[in-house]
Amino acid sequence: MIPTLEWLPNGVSFLDQTKLPLEETYVLATDYQQVATVIRDMIVRGAPAIGVSAAMGVALGVSQSKATTIPALNAEVATICETLAATRPTAVNLFWAIQRMRDKYDTLVAANTSITKIKAALIAEARHMYDEDIAACKAMGAHGASLLPMEGTVLTHCNAGALATCGYGTALGVIRAAVERGHKIDVYADETRPYLQGARLTAWELLHDNIPTTVLCDNMAGSLMRLGRVQAVIVGADRIAANGDTANKIGTYSVAVLAKEHNIPVYVAAPLSTIDLATLHGDEIPIEQRSATEVTHSQGKQITPDGADIENPAFDVTPAKYITAIITEHGVLRAPFEQSIRKMVEAATTKPELATA
Ligand code: MRU
Repeated sequence: MIPTLEWLPNGVSFLDQTKLPLEETYVLATDYQQVATVIRDMIVRGAPAIGVSAAMGVALGVSQSKATTIPALNAEVATICETLAATRPTAVNLFWAIQRMRDKYDTLVAANTSITKIKAALIAEARHMYDEDIAACKAMGAHGASLLPMEGTVLTHCNAGALATCGYGTALGVIRAAVERGHKIDVYADETRPYLQGARLTAWELLHDNIPTTVLCDNMAGSLMRLGRVQAVIVGADRIAANGDTANKIGTYSVAVLAKEHNIPVYVAAPLSTIDLATLHGDEIPIEQRSATEVTHSQGKQITPDGADIENPAFDVTPAKYITAIITEHGVLRAPFEQSIRKMVEAATTKPELATA
């Protein structure tokens, strides 16, 4: 299995995704501030992976606290959570995971738990979230595999794979599950400018699993669709609004519009922790703006003239009308998404066990 992140006795270990595919090196974060830096600098990235990393950051921060009273620990927990929440704004899994750790902490405090036991319980909770994330990816694979063609080419954008989760992946998990069930699938991986998650990460991890992968420049998808060379599109998500509008890596919207024009289904694979019922529609989703240097430079070399103005939104929103189905760990959602999403979230809250397809 690809070791995206791992809880260790002396900190949290991360596969350094800024160095892939040329170098497979690891960064050890030994305190919560370092975990925050690892998330902000995209050493770890991808919505579910960011969420579990933040949960581990909370566990690490609390476990290293020298506080001897609950009021002192409360103040530290607040700082830890604020620091981790300030890293990246779009993927809601980050805030979901921090809130879950916060809720766990509050419950333990309300039950008069000792500080030593609180520390152990928060570490256990973060590690449990890691296991749950892998189980959710496997369940998405089981629910979504049959939606992909028995034979054909599936296009994906960015990296929604093992590297973006604790293992197996969301969109790439569905592809993996289909391949495991005998589908003959080739993958088109959009290179995903400017950060090249597709060229560097998706190609790396699919080839690692011997899944045939062809890297495309982002501007090639439309032409290949017109030539009948794409049978389905599958992507991950950073935040899904209550009406199904989906924020994902910049460029996803263009791919979805092109797919609709060519009658190609567009699937979004994401765990329920990516759904944000408090965000009613896509226009409310905060979009991270990243540094101009990611656009002006490639491989450390300047590629634009001095003085050129630069845009670098890291995500875009695909309106729900372009999405054929949303694959979650609890099953497949279809339009009208407003109803289907709410119904599934409510059902999962009362009966959280995963149902497999
Ligand atoms: O900026 P990144 O690399 O964190 O963006 C990642 C994506 O957009 C993924 O598609 C998304 O998080 C889903 S990951 C399962």
